[in-house]
Amino acid sequence: MTVHIGAKTGDIAETVLLPGDPYRAKWAAETFLDKPRLVNEVRGMLGYTGSYKGRPVTVQGSGMGMPSLSIYVNELIKDYGAQTLIRIGSCGGMQEKVKVRDVILAMTSSTLSTPSRGIFKELNFAPAADWSLLHAAAAVAEAKGVATHVGGIYSSDVFYDERPDLNEQMMRHGILGVEMEAAELYTLAARYGRRALAVLTVSDHLITGEALPSSDRERSFGDMVEIALEAAFA
Ligand code: HPA
Repeated sequence: MTVHIGAKTGDIAETVLLPGDPYRAKWAAETFLDKPRLVNEVRGMLGYTGSYKGRPVTVQGSGMGMPSLSIYVNELIKDYGAQTLIRIGSCGGMQEKVKVRDVILAMTSSTLSTPSRGIFKELNFAPAADWSLLHAAAAVAEAKGVATHVGGIYSSDVFYDERPDLNEQMMRHGILGVEMEAAELYTLAARYGRRALAVLTVSDHLITGEALPSSDRERSFGDMVEIALEAAFA
C-alpha cells in the first residue's frame, strides 16, 4: 500500500499498462486480461491485475498530465517493483500523414518541462522509449496490419493551449502527435532502469480538426492495447 495505490505488495504485476483514464483501465482489463481483479480504487484511479496468455499484467490508470502520471509511476516502480511500463493513451495528430485512428509509437518525447525538470536544470534531457519494446511493438503493429507511425511526439502540460506557436514548431520539426504524459514516463524509466513505451491512438487532429467519434473508440483503442501486450512479452 502506498499513498496513492491501495494494492498489497504482490498485487501489482511487473508489467503495467497505463491508460490515463481509469475507466479505460477497467475496459482494457476486462476485455484483454484473464481473471482481472480490482487491486486499486484510491481516488477512483482504478487498477486491475489479471493475466495475458498466462502472464501477469496490471492495468493502472495514471490520470491526465505528467504530475499525475509521475505519482503513479514513482510508486509502481519504487514500491511495487514494476519493470515494464507501457502507456496506452490517445493523442492529437500533428502531421498530414498521421490519420485519426492510426497508432503512434513514441520513439522520443519532446517537452517544455516534466515533474523531473528540477533535476536537469539547464540540461535538456531527451526522454526516449526502450528500444526492445519499441522494436517489438513496431513488429506487432506491422504483423496486425495496423496503420502505425514511429517517431517523436510532444508531451504538453496543457490541453487548452494558449501558445499555438509551440504546436507549430513541433509540427515543423516532424513531431507526430501531442499528448500529456509520455516524457515523464520515459524520464522515470531511464532513472530507475526500467523499460517504457507509449503506444498512442490518434483520437483527434490538430490540422484537420477531425475527432474520433466515441462509437469508434473501442475498436481503435483495442489495437493499441493488443500491440502493448504483445510487445511486453515479445
Ligand atoms: N492535446 C493534448 N493531449 C491530447 C490531445 C491534444 O490534442 N489529444 C489527446 N490527448
